[in-house]
Amino acid sequence: MQTDSTLHDDRTGVSALGGGASGRLLPEIWMQDGAKRVEQALARLLCAEDDGETELMAAMRYATLHGGKRTRALLCLAAGALADTPAHMLDDVGAAIEMMHACTLVHDDLPAMDDDVLRRGLPTVHVRFGEATAILVGDALQAHAFLTLASLDAPGDNRIALVRELARAVSAEGAAGGQAMDLSLVGKHVELDRIVAMHRMKCGALVRASVRMGALCAIAEDAAHAALYCALDRYSACFGLALQVVDDILDATADTATLGKTPGKDAAGQKPTCASIMGLQAARQFALDLLRDAGEAIAPLGPRAERMAQMLQRANAYLFKHAPCA
Ligand code: IPE
Ligand code: IPE
Ligand code: MG
Ligand code: MG
Ligand code: MG
Repeated sequence: MQTDSTLHDDRTGVSALGGGASGRLLPEIWMQDGAKRVEQALARLLCAEDDGETELMAAMRYATLHGGKRTRALLCLAAGALADTPAHMLDDVGAAIEMMHACTLVHDDLPAMDDDVLRRGLPTVHVRFGEATAILVGDALQAHAFLTLASLDAPGDNRIALVRELARAVSAEGAAGGQAMDLSLVGKHVELDRIVAMHRMKCGALVRASVRMGALCAIAEDAAHAALYCALDRYSACFGLALQVVDDILDATADTATLGKTPGKDAAGQKPTCASIMGLQAARQFALDLLRDAGEAIAPLGPRAERMAQMLQRANAYLFKHAPCA
């Protein structure tokens, strides 16, 4: 098992960034640096051909390079630090995850889905480029995500494990299935456990993959590492569900400037959510409990899971800032 100091060696690419004598990095420093490196990878991987940028590629860059909290990429980086994954590999894996996330958002915003006109403070892709291009942006981003993973400078087994992980996350058992469930529940009164099941698929599955992929770059999921993957899965199950619960709360409470999206969409679209079923305060407590449970899941991993713990602090702070207790 690695020591704390190995989280900060050259292979993480962050040793000079504020570690100080203790070798510990301030969370805001590694998160800012990590998001920047992933964005640089996105810009490099989604580049124009020599003969000029097509409208499709321009729309793909628009969908990926303008904002977003980069939560999934940072989770991948945090788990990658735990596993001692080389930084150059994590940057591309984080970029592939953000491509896939952007694909789900572009399709989620389409008129046939949530029919949203604003995303990350900008007109949605179909508003800016047209509906046909938005559909193709999702298709192409998904393909580029897998192309990125298949092209990694890594052994074949690692690349197959990463491709499998990402594919599963957006399959009928993951985000696509969750989105289908979301649409099927419009206007219905449903039990909380169905909402939770839907959230675990439409949002949780990609969060789970993001964490697992950071680790899978360097550590095979075998019997020797069963406890590690068990802890990571418990962490990400709680984190992923909390992320969607917080999204549901803010949809009902936050303003356009905070969200960068149209507020009140869930109620307007008659979407049952944790917030609508439990009430805002209970939903808020549910999210806090989930983040606490996620912390307990990684506690046995010790200091090498420090960045994963810092991601929980970030999520907590986000909730307290944007949805303070009534
Ligand atoms: C929005 O995700 C959609 C959900 C699944 C909750 P994020 O809130 O992570 O969106 P960005 O990437 O920061 O824009
Ligand atoms: C979207 O959930 C989940 C996926 C994109 C898979 P939402 O529809 O609540 O996400 P926002 O609020 O539009 O970002
Ligand atoms: Mg939706
Ligand atoms: Mg939506
Ligand atoms: Mg939402």
